[in-house]
Amino acid sequence: MNAPESEISTSAAPLPILLVDDERNVLASLRRLLIEEESMEILVADSGKEGLRILDERPEVGVIVSDQRMPEMSGVEFLSKARQQVPDTLRILLTGYADLEATVDAINRGGAYRYIAKPWDDHELVTTLREAVAHVSLQRENLRLQALVNRKNEELRQWNTRLKSRVLEQTAEIRKKNEELRKTNRRLKSNYRDTIAVLSGLLEIRSAHLRNHARRVASLCMRTAEIMELPEPEREDLQVAALLHDVGAIGTPDPLIRRQLEELGGEDLHNYLQHAIRGQTAIDTIEDLRTAGILIRHHHEHYDGGGYPDGLRGADIPLGSRIIAMADFIERHQSRFSRQGIDFVLELLQEQLGTRFDTSIYPFVEQSARDEYAPVVNSDGLKPRSLLPSRLRMGMILDEDLASNTGLLLLARGTVIDETAIAAIHRLNEIDPLRREISVLASE
Ligand SMILES: [Fe+2]
Ligand SMILES: [Fe+2]
Repeated sequence: MNAPESEISTSAAPLPILLVDDERNVLASLRRLLIEEESMEILVADSGKEGLRILDERPEVGVIVSDQRMPEMSGVEFLSKARQQVPDTLRILLTGYADLEATVDAINRGGAYRYIAKPWDDHELVTTLREAVAHVSLQRENLRLQALVNRKNEELRQWNTRLKSRVLEQTAEIRKKNEELRKTNRRLKSNYRDTIAVLSGLLEIRSAHLRNHARRVASLCMRTAEIMELPEPEREDLQVAALLHDVGAIGTPDPLIRRQLEELGGEDLHNYLQHAIRGQTAIDTIEDLRTAGILIRHHHEHYDGGGYPDGLRGADIPLGSRIIAMADFIERHQSRFSRQGIDFVLELLQEQLGTRFDTSIYPFVEQSARDEYAPVVNSDGLKPRSLLPSRLRMGMILDEDLASNTGLLLLARGTVIDETAIAAIHRLNEIDPLRREISVLASE
């Protein structure tokens, strides 16, 4: 890389030049010749030894001009020592025409840049020295620039490393924050679900008749939604609505709540059906539950427009409400006619397809009902029985979901009673004794 001349002249101070000769008058005339040269600082020595001493003191010397013929130490000898001491100097030998051997030596041993024959031509000597000074200055400037580039590169590398580690730190920070957000979100979601479950459980505490009703309706609805491949937001609304569809019945008088919907008529039926509107009203203040509230309002509409409360017809009834209506019918009849089995219940429902229920979604609901109420596996030789919780024994199979009085699911239908199950039931009995009988499949 060659730096422009201007850059060198601005950055360089005069370059020290060392003249070595044992003849003082030669030194004097050389000094006179070069005194005008602003780019040079002239140093003189009258012997090789003195020359080396000066080089020791002033290692920044850029050009050395030495006479060959000197006592004690020849020019070649001196230049070769100087070369070892300050390798980045330019060395020039002053020698007689005939001294070819010294010239060759000077180049080979002394690493001489030039030789100048004595007697010299002033102009040629000045020109040669100027070139040498420019050459050394250029070389040193190149080195300086190279060092500068290296330093900048190193700074850049360090900066890059710091930047990388900063980015990594920030990425880690963002990841941590994301993870915290995810946790908070999960907690909020789980709190939300718990709250819905508690609300749903309130009604079941109120009436044994409705025990597990909402949860099983929700389960049927979720199976149906899955088979129908409904989008996630719709499923969430459907689940909440199914869990809370009868929550408005908390205010319904006892005699009404204990009877089946199909047994009611006239004023009683009208009063009972109010729960659909009350249910919607109860949760309407919670913005996130408003869509579910609409599904709750319409869960007693009939497909032919003869239902409650708005007499909506066909596809005007929200899809979720149509699903809940069928799931509700199936669940109530299944718990009432559990001995007859799911086929019996589905036959009852089919009688009302097209009038009360939507024929188009029936196949999905039917499939989910068959899955939900499929006979418990491995029940060979076992008979259905109803037992108090304290009489449950190992090997029996639960024929219904076992929930606490507060509606908390303890063991799912189909669970084989083992030590863990018995321990769990005992623990529950201590906190919240189950006084009703449980349907199981048992060997005797
Ligand atoms: Fe209802
Ligand atoms: Fe219901």
